[in-house]
Amino acid sequence: MNLHRIGVIGAGTMGNGIAQVCAAAGFDVTLLDIAEPALQRALATIDKNLDRQVAKQVLSAEQKDAALARIRLSTDYTSLEGADLVIEAATENLDLKLRLLQQIAAQVSTECVIASNTSSLSITQLAASVSVPERFIGLHFFNPVPMMGLIEVIRGLQTSDATHALALELSTRLGKTAITAGNRPGFVVNRILVPMINEAILVLQEGLASAEDIDAGMRLGCNQPIGPLALADLIGLDTLLAILAAFYEGFNDSKYRPAPLLKEMVAAGYLGRKSGRGFHAYG
Ligand SMILES: NC(=O)c1ccc[n+]([C@@H]2O[C@H](COP(=O)([O-])OP(=O)(O)OC[C@H]3O[C@@H](n4cnc5c(N)ncnc54)[C@H](O)[C@@H]3O)[C@@H](O)[C@H]2O)c1
Repeated sequence: MNLHRIGVIGAGTMGNGIAQVCAAAGFDVTLLDIAEPALQRALATIDKNLDRQVAKQVLSAEQKDAALARIRLSTDYTSLEGADLVIEAATENLDLKLRLLQQIAAQVSTECVIASNTSSLSITQLAASVSVPERFIGLHFFNPVPMMGLIEVIRGLQTSDATHALALELSTRLGKTAITAGNRPGFVVNRILVPMINEAILVLQEGLASAEDIDAGMRLGCNQPIGPLALADLIGLDTLLAILAAFYEGFNDSKYRPAPLLKEMVAAGYLGRKSGRGFHAYG
């Protein structure tokens, strides 16, 4: 498969991680953002992360330098010309993504595959905005990208088998395991994970157990690395509420109703780690 040049759109949390793993795997990467400072921050983050891998002897110093040399920074969409694959990882906003996908499609050939890293938007709807919807797919990386072994590959209604095959090949070449999912809210992992967290909040709300005991129960009884309430605090309770609201609306099913306690916590400004207080207290 002809897969050498990769464009990554958005140099934030996910974009810089995606650019790093693609460059480390030998691809030529163009990392594009509308904000120059975001690009500089991304490069500093990548440099630091690669240094850590050199210290752990995962990479040699030469491999680090070669990976960095394969990353080109840009604020100009014309720099995507010649890309074989473009991965969109910009801000999660439907109107913004629809607009920038058209900008991407205007620069690349009809052979180029365009992918989105969206967590919550419909791949079928995004695909409908580009010139060749058959060559559009969801590539849902997990945070932090260099550490996490999974990519969810999401087929829109229009996605061709060849596009799907390219996504699977990319995952292998990045050293990740791919699972394929259909296009429904939450795909597979969040569809299962988020209702489990919501149920933990309902258990707390009912007074069945303390937050500490609920988390200890799931860590020690189910071998989860982190308890569901501590994980909720890490994700951010406002983000969690937004995801549940999207499930509730997207499936029209009451089983996804957000726990009233979650709504109340968000209304109080208790958002988890980022606000210093959630189901647990932080420094
Ligand atoms: N953060 C996570 O844990 C996570 C996990 C999986 C998927 N995602 C998805 O990844 C995507 C990016 O999330 P993030 O957390 O990295 O966001 P972020 O806010 O850290 O970064 C978004 C970047 O997009 C840039 N941007 C905005 N408009 C742009 C445009 N028109 N052209 C180019 N760049 C533009 C911003 O300047 C910013 O640097 C979202 O779709 C999100 O749903 C996030």
